[in-house]
Order: sequence, then C-alpha cells, then structure tokens
Amino acid sequence: MNWSEQTWIVCTCGRGCAGALQGELQALGYTPQEVSPTAVGVEGNLRDAMRLNLWLRTANRVLFEVAGFEVDSADDLHAAVRDLPWEQWLRADVPFHVHGVAQHETIRDSRFAVLRCKDGIADRFVARTGARPDSTADAGGAAGIALFWKERHAQIFLDTSGVPLARRGYRLQPGIAPLRETLAAAILLEVGWGRNPAEAFVGPMCGSGTLAIEAAWIAQRRAPGLDRDDFAFLRLNGVDLDAWRELQAAARARFSAAPGVWIAASDINPQAIACARENAARAGADGLIRFQTCDFRDTLLPRPPGLVLMNPEYGERMGTEDRLAAHYEAIGAWLKSRGQGLRAAIFTGNLALGRRIGLHPRRRVAMWNGDLECRLLEYDLYAGTRDPRLLRKHGGAPPQ
Ligand SMILES: C[S@@+](CC[C@H](N)C(=O)[O-])C[C@H]1O[C@@H](n2cnc3c(N)ncnc32)[C@H](O)[C@@H]1O
Repeated sequence: MNWSEQTWIVCTCGRGCAGALQGELQALGYTPQEVSPTAVGVEGNLRDAMRLNLWLRTANRVLFEVAGFEVDSADDLHAAVRDLPWEQWLRADVPFHVHGVAQHETIRDSRFAVLRCKDGIADRFVARTGARPDSTADAGGAAGIALFWKERHAQIFLDTSGVPLARRGYRLQPGIAPLRETLAAAILLEVGWGRNPAEAFVGPMCGSGTLAIEAAWIAQRRAPGLDRDDFAFLRLNGVDLDAWRELQAAARARFSAAPGVWIAASDINPQAIACARENAARAGADGLIRFQTCDFRDTLLPRPPGLVLMNPEYGERMGTEDRLAAHYEAIGAWLKSRGQGLRAAIFTGNLALGRRIGLHPRRRVAMWNGDLECRLLEYDLYAGTRDPRLLRKHGGAPPQ
C-alpha cells in the first residue's frame, strides 16, 4: 500500500470539542477544511494519520478515507465494498474490526450495514487470495474499518486508531464520574492552558486526576500516544514502521520535564486521591503533580499567574439540588475571596447550578459529556490585595 498517497483524513471528536481539535490540527501544521460538530477533516497521507494518532489530544479517532460511492441498498454497499482492493490494505493473518453508522431509508439498524460491509471485505479476500482474515467485534488487536453512510452517500475509511484515542492507558482506576481524557484535554485547551509557561495549575475536586494529568502532559509537551502500542494502523499491510519509529523518536525529543511548572490537585475523598496518584504514576506525571487530600477551600493556591480548574459534581439524582446549590455558592465565595489575580474555570453539567457560582463568566463554552450538554465557564478573578496571613495559613504559594 502506498503510504505517501494523499487523501482525506477525518478526525472525530466529542460534541463541543471540534474548536479545540481544529486548534490542535493548525498547531501541527494542517489546514482544517471541513468542520462538523463531531469531526474535523484535513488532507494527508498515512504517515500524517500516524502523526495525528500520536499527537492529537482531543480526537477520538483518526479515519483515513479510501472510498466514497453512491449506494441505494445494502446489496449496493456490499458490491461496492467488494470491489475495493482490501488485500492491499489488510493482512490475511490479522483480524479486522468494522464499525459505522448508516442513515438510509432501507436500513433499520446500522449493524446490518456493518455486517454487509464485513461480508464485502471477506468476499474480496477469498476471491483474490483464497484466504480471509477473521472479523472481530473487538477493536483491540485488530485492523480497523469505519463506514459512514448517509442518504445515498457512503464513505469507507481505514480507522487508523482502533481503540479510541481517549483510552490513553493511564486510567485503570476510573474513580467516580471521571471525565473522558479527550474531553479533559479539550477543556484545558479551550481555557488556553499551556500558553503561558509561567502559569500554575490547580485542580480542586480532582477525582481520578484526569484534568491534572492532561495538564501535566500538555505542560510536558508529551504526545498523548507516546506509550500506546495498540494503534490499528500498526496492523495494516506493509505498515511503514520506520516512519512510525521516526515519529516516536521526534515526540520523545520534544518531551520535556517541564521544570518550574507548578501543578496541584486535591480532593476531599482520600480514595480519589489514592486513585489519582496511581493514575498519575502510570502517566509518568506523578513527579509533577502535588496531591492534597482536603476540602476544596483548603487547597493551596499559587500566586498569579495561575489557573484554578474544577469539575464539581452536578447531581443527576433527585434530592441533591439544594445541597449542590450551597456547594456551588461556596465555590464562588472561595474563588472570590482567595483566588484574586488568578483565572478560574468550572466545568458543569447543570447550567442552573453554574449560575449559583455568583461570578460573571468571561466566557461560556458548550461542551458535551457523552449525551449531556455541559458548560465550561471561565472567570477572571479580579486582582485585589491578597491577605498574606491567608497564604501563610495555607502553607504559602510555591511558584514564582
Ligand atoms: C465530578 S467528580 C470529579 C471527576 C474528575 N474530573 C475526574 O475526571 O475524575 C467531583 C469530585 O469532587 C469531590 N468533592 C466533593 N465535595 C468536595 C469538597 N467539599 N471538597 C473537595 N472535593 C470535593 C468528590 O470527591 C469528587 O471526586
């Protein structure tokens, strides 16, 4: 297969993350051309696809287009897929995994379209080689194929990611209501974390530590795919392993220990802190993050410039609303009294509770946590005089 051939690469993402993803693609030197709420497209070849898998923090998958056609039925789809040169792209000894979505009047269940797509691949293989790879329901360890079929137009992609990129591998301990890693990265990039190397990061209510770990990786310029080995492109026929090793070596050379960056995270629940510590250790970021078990009000705050980023619970169960309203009011009061001169951001799935913070957000960004519409609320906390006794009481503020 030709690893230099240019085609269309579609990077998928969660709803509300396309802005951050576009910014990432631009920073990597690509020109985003087609942006939808859950995907951004660029032109590139398979080496670009490998690079994007290695570097993108906010994408779920990197899809490499191999065909597009007009089809009116599942049989048409099967015939069109069977005509593609699968024996050039896949290997008979490596299983393949197909997933996709079909929105067509003749299709009631996307799984049927996916099945016909699988049959087309298998039939082509048998016709050309007498053998065929197994198909598998599990993306792990397999080559990936994605189908997008809307009205008459069907597109076939090599899914070069396979297992979604959100699964960085460091979070074996999910904790309670963890943010997906890609969403955490998108929140951080939306608020401009990493732009000012002198800025400190504080994550009260850190739960499993996802925001703090992603903040550390951004500060370290660590490629999120650096230690991942389960990329579906690695199982394509004739994969250019030399190019992949070069990309990995370049990413290792960019990685920096981020000296001087101050990152802290706290949570009232000792189990959450134990889990966040373990996750940070697996992410190689434990040396960079200071953990504290405490109420958010006792979290050490840095001197400006600093960013306080919180993801308080937003209660999907009945009866929690009043307690949470008081909680959000307390967060607002604490930020007002202790956070002067810092930037703050709150990510919440409850817009009414967000208003209880009692501060006027400088910016509101709609982002979805799964199916739930959430808001990222950004605040500039006005710089007044800070009471030095408070700083002393809470152990001082390390960064310069
Ligand atoms: C929605 S979870 C945060 C999830 C986190 N973003 C993650 O990715 O794992 C909210 C966290 O707030 C913590 N929490 C609740 N009340 C707190 C308080 N008064 N002070 C500090 N932490 C608190 C909980 O223990 C919980 O871990």
